[in-house]
Amino acid sequence: MCGIVGYIGKRDVAPLLLEGLQRLEYRGYDSAGIAIHANGTGKAAGGLKTAKAKGRVRELESRLPKRFAGTTGIAHTRWATHGAPTDENAHPHADTDGKVAVVHNGIIDNASDLRARLTADGVDFTSETDTEVLAHLIGRSAAPTLEEKVREALRVVEGTYGIAVLHADFADRIVVARNGSPVVLGIGEHEMFVSSDVAALVSHTRQVVTLDDGEMATLKADDYRTYTTEGSRTSAEPTTVEWEAESYDMGGHDTYMHKEIAEQADAVDRVLRGRIDDRFSTVHLGGLNLDAREARGVRRVKILGCGSAYHTGLIGAQLIEELARIPADAEPASEFRYRNAVVDPDTLYIAVSQSGETYDTLAAVQELKRKGARVLGVVNVVGSAIARETDGGVYVHAGPEVCVVSTKCFTNTAVAFALLGLHLGRIRDLSVADGKRIIAGLRKLPAQIAEVLAEEPAIEKLAADYADAKSMMFVGRVRGYPVALEASLKLKEVSYIHAEAYPASELKHGPLALIEPDVPSVAIVPDDDLLEKNRATLEEIKARSGRILAVAHQEQEKADHTIIVPKNEVELDPILMGIPLQLLAYHTALALGRDIDKPRNLAKSVTVE
Ligand code: F6R
Repeated sequence: MCGIVGYIGKRDVAPLLLEGLQRLEYRGYDSAGIAIHANGTGKAAGGLKTAKAKGRVRELESRLPKRFAGTTGIAHTRWATHGAPTDENAHPHADTDGKVAVVHNGIIDNASDLRARLTADGVDFTSETDTEVLAHLIGRSAAPTLEEKVREALRVVEGTYGIAVLHADFADRIVVARNGSPVVLGIGEHEMFVSSDVAALVSHTRQVVTLDDGEMATLKADDYRTYTTEGSRTSAEPTTVEWEAESYDMGGHDTYMHKEIAEQADAVDRVLRGRIDDRFSTVHLGGLNLDAREARGVRRVKILGCGSAYHTGLIGAQLIEELARIPADAEPASEFRYRNAVVDPDTLYIAVSQSGETYDTLAAVQELKRKGARVLGVVNVVGSAIARETDGGVYVHAGPEVCVVSTKCFTNTAVAFALLGLHLGRIRDLSVADGKRIIAGLRKLPAQIAEVLAEEPAIEKLAADYADAKSMMFVGRVRGYPVALEASLKLKEVSYIHAEAYPASELKHGPLALIEPDVPSVAIVPDDDLLEKNRATLEEIKARSGRILAVAHQEQEKADHTIIVPKNEVELDPILMGIPLQLLAYHTALALGRDIDKPRNLAKSVTVE
């Protein structure tokens, strides 16, 4: 949410920053801006130059002045929190003298108090943002170095930030700081980068340093140093980014969403690779940090995540309960963190997150840790904040997910939960035979996903049929319910068609009143012990003249259309049943001409509360 990028070195900075912003645009796309040290560095520096524009990065590019040369700069792509998306509210923000430029990701909670104080001191604000207070605080500091000026300013702000700062009088450096919003340094040869995430760095360097909360850094062309906001040096050994630059490309697809749906067979292959142990009919999860004795002592599992991550958590809870016979449930992390939940020492808490940055999930983890709970992570981004805060966990190895809406990561996380359920189950009471059965099912998944994806032309036709819906109802029972929730969220996000998801059994308790011909239903109908109950639901909908699209293992007589998916083990069925509905959402959005990778009002990696 909001992307920052910066560069100091010898190359022409504007094209580099624009390219970085394009890579980060999924973090926010309502306005963008750049500030550079004009005409080089050191004594030759000619002050700061800034360009900003409401809208996408391409808008900013078209508005860059002809003479906009320099070799040091910072840039930002915004997802508005304080103030509407306008040119004025776009970052970077400046102090009154135009000597300071700040880009910021996060929220300054006490911005209105600080603004009132600065206004009383005669400062004129030019934007409605919380960030502008930072620029003025830094600009007004009398401290002798840029580092101290920034430190002084940060001492009075409350809230979250990932910031990068330029100062006209300190042209040889960029100063950055982190508290709650990610900041990653990219270490090059005689050049340094900074970014909100590695997406903007990997085409230049794979050597990175991820700052911790409370850490700052000074970047110069030939070196960098990191220190705490109190000024003590910290050690910052670079690590190598796992993902290749090419994995961020569109790879011949028209959208990232399509690319990411299409690569799910490979992604699932990756999450399984090297983990299956046929000898003991179990799996190895190297990073779990939970020995057999501890695993046997777990009395309850609580899974926390937001949005799609919460939905995979619901699938995960069922898998853990079924395979390991440990009572398990999932709850939105954004609710859990506000309700002063009882934290039980025998409960294993699991935080789920693609980005590893979602603020609500991170805050839940921090609160749990503070209360002494054991928290594991099921995370995609290696070394992300949630991965680092948790006591251990399972990486889902989906590769970079660039589209704002989650697809392959949803699927891979569900598979990661199957691995975790199997692992815990085999330590507890899951038999060797059941272990073997689940492993065989897991091995079948990549080929079965490929089969589902081969149905795309038929699903595209169905999407054209359903694109005129006023609203859509998604229903499923037990294992099918999280699939219904996720499919309904996908449709809403990318097509903007209103959708509801209900447990099929709940329809008759109210929502059936909504059913009419232009409110079609999508029903998840696996071949399991609830098949007949689900068929009864189809009857109920049909009796109210509702159109029905079923996702099932066999043709459903009452449905107008059935998408047939291959059968796996009942526990693993939800993993496959969600995939055709990702394609349905995609093709519906395409038919309606939506901006699929960047749906309105949304951004990936929600690093604000
Ligand atoms: C929906 C979607 C969001 C995220 C949610 C959590 O398509 O992508 O609902 O799942 O914002 O994000 P992560 O998984 O990064 O914590």
